[in-house]
Amino acid sequence: MAPMSTVDLPLLPLGRGTDLNAERGVECPGDLPVPSDPDLVARARAAKEALGDRVFVLGHHYQRDEVIRFADVTGDSFKLARDAAARPGAEYIVFCGVHFMAESADILTSPDQIVVLPDLAAGCSMADMARLVQVEDCWDALAAAGIAESVVPITYMNSSADIKAFCGRHGGAVCTSSNADVALEWAFGQVPHAKVLFLPDQHLGRNTAVLKLGLTLDECVVWDPRRLGGGVAPEELAAARMILWKGHCSVHGRFSPDVVDELRRKRPEVRVLVHPECTHDVVTRADLVGSTEFIIAAVAAAPAGSVWAIGTELNLVQRLAREHPEQEILFLDRSVCYCSTMNRIDLPHLVWALESLGDGVVVNRVSVDPDTEHHARIALQRMLDLPGRSHRD
Ligand code: 13P
Ligand code: SF4
Repeated sequence: MAPMSTVDLPLLPLGRGTDLNAERGVECPGDLPVPSDPDLVARARAAKEALGDRVFVLGHHYQRDEVIRFADVTGDSFKLARDAAARPGAEYIVFCGVHFMAESADILTSPDQIVVLPDLAAGCSMADMARLVQVEDCWDALAAAGIAESVVPITYMNSSADIKAFCGRHGGAVCTSSNADVALEWAFGQVPHAKVLFLPDQHLGRNTAVLKLGLTLDECVVWDPRRLGGGVAPEELAAARMILWKGHCSVHGRFSPDVVDELRRKRPEVRVLVHPECTHDVVTRADLVGSTEFIIAAVAAAPAGSVWAIGTELNLVQRLAREHPEQEILFLDRSVCYCSTMNRIDLPHLVWALESLGDGVVVNRVSVDPDTEHHARIALQRMLDLPGRSHRD
């Protein structure tokens, strides 16, 4: 009988190390400070100062304010990958983001640098929607259909290291929301009559292919790993140019076209600004679409009095509203919509990680095995080498 940890149950197995197939862990060990400790800010500051240049703290834009204030750099996932790689002098990289970002930082940094994720339970439900065994099954089916040789796999950064390694092994690359268009153009130029297998976010894949590269919706098919043959007929596969993995972001999936329509009726002056992880119906109704870095830059460049409705994670939208009181910034949903896994990184976990490092104890290290790292780095490097990114620095 297979050991418990390798069985792909449709459940969340609890306990440390029991969920080896998941992109994230499920619990955080350690003696965490209590959230009510009034000295947490002072403790974080002191621990970081004591470590000095030995530690470099990266913060994704979706992080809480209490955490982001301690980041040496903030950014979207592309910028953070690049920034992590540009700090060879730092002994410790503390990644305030989610697990796949910390993995990418580990892959892009030198072997003697240590990457720490303050809470290992900070994973990503979208990344969990593509497991290596499922992707390998899909690839076998594409081979059986006689098309694997013309398929270039592209994975969104929001995927586990083994999926990135799969892309590296099969001539593919990684992309982020700020360079998906350039990555797709690159992929379509790799082999004659190329098709792209886009993992794991169907919405980013569809939005980029249709709205940036001019493909039609009919040229996109959705591969459902839970259905026989992906639920796609062989002749549909043969005709498709984009094979989209059936994954999505549960945070961005909440934004709805009805809210955009209602808002436009009530506030015709509003500009709708959304992340490309939103559904196609939402993205096609928006005025501007882009990564978190793009969203921040768009608001910063707008004149006073601008009215925005922003469709991305709530920590970022709230921060923008506070930083730009000269503009009116609305959240594009009626209900609260945080990324619960991003929010796992809070001040107690950050204090615990920094104080432990100061005591010479490495906690919550994220470390990718050498073979996976080698092939994932190929796919990440292909992304970093892409020409003419649409990303705004
Ligand atoms: P970006 O910061 O790359 O836009 O990504 C958003 C996201 O969902 C990260 O998980
Ligand atoms: Fe994953 Fe969505 Fe959270 Fe980003 S916002 S980390 S894609 S669940």
